[in-house]
Amino acid sequence: MAFLDWKTDYSVGVAIFDDEHKKLIAIINSLHDSILAEVDAATLCKISDAMVEYTIMHFRHEEMYFDDWAYPDAAEHILAHGALRQQVFDFRQRIGGTDSATLAEEMLSFLRQWLIEHILVEDRAYGEFLFDKGVR
Ligand SMILES: [Fe+2]
Ligand SMILES: [Fe+2]
Repeated sequence: MAFLDWKTDYSVGVAIFDDEHKKLIAIINSLHDSILAEVDAATLCKISDAMVEYTIMHFRHEEMYFDDWAYPDAAEHILAHGALRQQVFDFRQRIGGTDSATLAEEMLSFLRQWLIEHILVEDRAYGEFLFDKGVR
């Protein structure tokens, strides 16, 4: 069983964003697997790079939809993205300077909490808005 499994409870009602969230969950699961396999700095770099890249892409994609549909709570949501993105960058910067196992554990608990809370509250709010506009 994976560390995190996507559940229908996590659905934001828009298929493309559910798919992207599943991909983020897959990256978090690969981080968890790497911890079980005694992660080293090189592996942690690879996973963090994937996380940074995918996070940037995913946030940009959501923000494009906010623009296209004039989502009224966009400003607040974009601020939340900015803070999360910064945290992911900060973790990436710390690789090599901090013990990899400790850092990986810290990243794992941060990402799990972030992903679940951000999806369940903030992303579901735009999901409802877009769903009402007919976006699926
Ligand atoms: Fe978001
Ligand atoms: Fe999201």
